[in-house]
Amino acid sequence: CRVRHYKFDVVTKNTSRLCSSKPIVTVNGKFPGPTVYAREDDTVLIRVVNKVKYNVSIHWHGIRQLRTGWSDGPAYITQCPIRPGHSFLYNFTLTGQRGTLWWHAHILWLRATVHGAIVILPKLGVPYPFPKPDHEAVLILAEWWKSDTEAIINEALKSGLAPNVSDAHTINGHPGPLANCSTGGFRLGVEPGKTYMLRLVNAALNEELFFRIAGHTLTVVEVDATYVKPFKTDTVLIAPGQTTNVIVSADQSAGRYMLTASTFMDSPIAVDNNTATATLHYSGTLSSTPTVLTATPPLNATPVANKFTNSLRALNSAKYPANVPLKVDHSLLFTVGLGINPCPSCKPANGSRVVASINNVTFVMPKIALLQAHVFNIPGVFTTDFPGNPPAPFNYTGPPPSNLATSSGTKLYRLAYNSTVQLVLQDTGIIAPENHPLHLHGFNFFAVGRGLGNYNPNVDPKNFNLVDPVERNTIGVPSGGWVAIRFRADNPGVWFMHCHLEVHTTWGLKMAFLVDNGSGPNESILPPPSDLPKC
Ligand code: C2O
Repeated sequence: CRVRHYKFDVVTKNTSRLCSSKPIVTVNGKFPGPTVYAREDDTVLIRVVNKVKYNVSIHWHGIRQLRTGWSDGPAYITQCPIRPGHSFLYNFTLTGQRGTLWWHAHILWLRATVHGAIVILPKLGVPYPFPKPDHEAVLILAEWWKSDTEAIINEALKSGLAPNVSDAHTINGHPGPLANCSTGGFRLGVEPGKTYMLRLVNAALNEELFFRIAGHTLTVVEVDATYVKPFKTDTVLIAPGQTTNVIVSADQSAGRYMLTASTFMDSPIAVDNNTATATLHYSGTLSSTPTVLTATPPLNATPVANKFTNSLRALNSAKYPANVPLKVDHSLLFTVGLGINPCPSCKPANGSRVVASINNVTFVMPKIALLQAHVFNIPGVFTTDFPGNPPAPFNYTGPPPSNLATSSGTKLYRLAYNSTVQLVLQDTGIIAPENHPLHLHGFNFFAVGRGLGNYNPNVDPKNFNLVDPVERNTIGVPSGGWVAIRFRADNPGVWFMHCHLEVHTTWGLKMAFLVDNGSGPNESILPPPSDLPKC
């Protein structure tokens, strides 16, 4: 194994899209930022230097961070932010992980432009469990706002209302050839007869996306850096936080084919109809050849989304077994959704504001990082009474209860080292049912069950897939439905779990698990690095 060194300078860069320019926060002046390359079991050292006016922290999304929670990155959860003019060395080892993951700022809304891919190749000499593609490319899907994203969320928090949707989606930083003032957009050159693995990342702040390539079938081989049983599809569903590897063969006649990233949203709120486009360009295509277009799925194409989700199965081969926990120590049910709390100063929202919650708790960010408070025994920062079940059960997907208000607090749920968890995430329709892509830091989990309506603990577990459920780190809770996940708490530390729609996280749809140290050797979190930022 090798040690890989990277230097991330967080700098402001003037950037033009959609006929106007604005300064954006970037890593090394790039949007999207640089790709981190490594191999399974390598150690990665990344020095992040903050040269902007904001506090900064970077999260390595999907990296397990076994015993190195100090390098996980969410501000005020595992570390205090890196202040302007300061730096921090992230140091972690890629134990038993290979595939596509990504990194992003984990403070404020900076991840809108501060993000990039992480490509972890298998160990030297270890092949992919599918035919080796001839070439590979990273495709990062994101969003672009003409105005400053920090101003947009601050304005929304003042008013109590939802923030504006973005002005465009982007593929590798560009809205594409159909956008106003386009310079052509991202173009992937291909040779006829060759195969390509596309490493897709959804880095959008607030949009689940459909991805398509006109005239081409996609073979899905991996999600969230875990191998799946390969299957063919014409549409990929990818939620913010998720990554998906697909193989496409350049098996069509020479030409230009449109790639699209369009919104999937089956909730009636904050509708965003933007589509980003890019081009698959065969070598030898005549300039007069017209581009082959594709229709995008309708915004609310729930059947398309469900078909994709239901096709995902863990590869579960002898070399890559799905080790689903069969015995459950903690059986938890978390409701996820939106609520309305009083806010006398909020105008024009009539003295109320939209909030979000898990089991009716709107999470309050602490002033001192939770991991430091835990390891150094600093009292008064958090409590460990996060409810394992809804405090007052109701018909979650039926008519909303009369009191929409949530309680608030910095509450954690405590897990013994190596205990096993079954967690049902139940969407609520309090304001409106909506998809919530939930991300758990520090673990992969198995998606053992999924359904519409209210979870029924007496019936639904009988249909759980405990053999080859897909393993991932971010999962879409279906609108008006539920998912069940299982994981083993084998990573001591404090681990954030939140909706990866940034607006929902901001509103409080987040909590954290505290996993105690084990008693054996190598079962405790490592000591903190000496340059850990101070609050
Ligand atoms: Cu990719 Cu806590 O997030």
